[in-house]
Amino acid sequence: MSKPILLSGVKPTARVHIGNYFGAMKQFVDLQGEYQNFNFIADYHALNQMMDDPTIIKKYTLELAAAYLVVGLDPKKTVLFRQSDVPEVTELNWIFNSLITPSYLQSAHAYKDAVAKKKEVNMGLFCYPVLMAADILIYNSDVVPVGKDQQQHVEIACDLARKFNNTYGEEVFKLPKALIWEGESLKGTDGEKMSKSKGNVIELFEPEESIKKKVMSIKTDSKGVEDKKDPEADNVFFYHKLFSAHTIDELRSRYENGGIGYKESKEILFANMMAYLKPMRDKYFKLIKDEKYLNKVLADGAKRARKVAQIKMEKVRRAVGVR
Ligand code: TRP
Repeated sequence: MSKPILLSGVKPTARVHIGNYFGAMKQFVDLQGEYQNFNFIADYHALNQMMDDPTIIKKYTLELAAAYLVVGLDPKKTVLFRQSDVPEVTELNWIFNSLITPSYLQSAHAYKDAVAKKKEVNMGLFCYPVLMAADILIYNSDVVPVGKDQQQHVEIACDLARKFNNTYGEEVFKLPKALIWEGESLKGTDGEKMSKSKGNVIELFEPEESIKKKVMSIKTDSKGVEDKKDPEADNVFFYHKLFSAHTIDELRSRYENGGIGYKESKEILFANMMAYLKPMRDKYFKLIKDEKYLNKVLADGAKRARKVAQIKMEKVRRAVGVR
């Protein structure tokens, strides 16, 4: 029996941060044996929010590919590729356009949010869920791990799959399931949800000095060294749970009994964080210079992804009558 297919896309619009790592990337690595992973870099999705700088999409795409590799995605197991290397996806997007109405797309969150924020909405953003449906359905995806904000998009993909199958009387598309990540979302240095737009992220590969500054500026209350502290209410301790697992009991008791100040706690955290990240950071700084290798990995991935997409599109073209 072949493994169920897990598909995930990430837009190359920002550098990866520890929230991306613990919230998503680490799970992809852990799930590599159980699923056939398709991890792609959604460069066409990035276009609708950054048309103005062609160099940056390319740069972030390679950075993301390197990041995936150094955290442990194995290109022999995982199909790692660039969305735009599989043109069948945009072809399918076109066919789906005829199965969907503007009024239906007007109810999509991403569009409504953009309108509410009075952003200028281009057709790329408006049709974003259709392209995403094509991404999902063309590879026969079984599960699509996403954050809550993307759940609706997976439902739209299911609607499109059903609509297509009903219209053409064939089970061409499989209905995917959203896999919603459990657990609390990662806190940023200000204690709010970690998010690039809030400016509270710690990037995986930013300079050590800059990480130190951010760690030392994590928001805390103003309790003194000897005061008893509730570890669960402290943002620094939140990170200790991720990076200081080996001494977490000792830290917890020093918090609860008093005797550790936030400055010391942050210094310990910084040291543990750097120790944790060092192996992947060392690999990353080497790999990111090897553009040739990164492009080769993406090209190999694209070849494998495209094979699946081409078979699907043959069926689709026949079903709709253009062949
Ligand atoms: N929309 C996703 C995001 O903003 C990225 C994405 C594009 C995606 N296509 C996808 C995610 C297909 C999962 C499956 O994060």
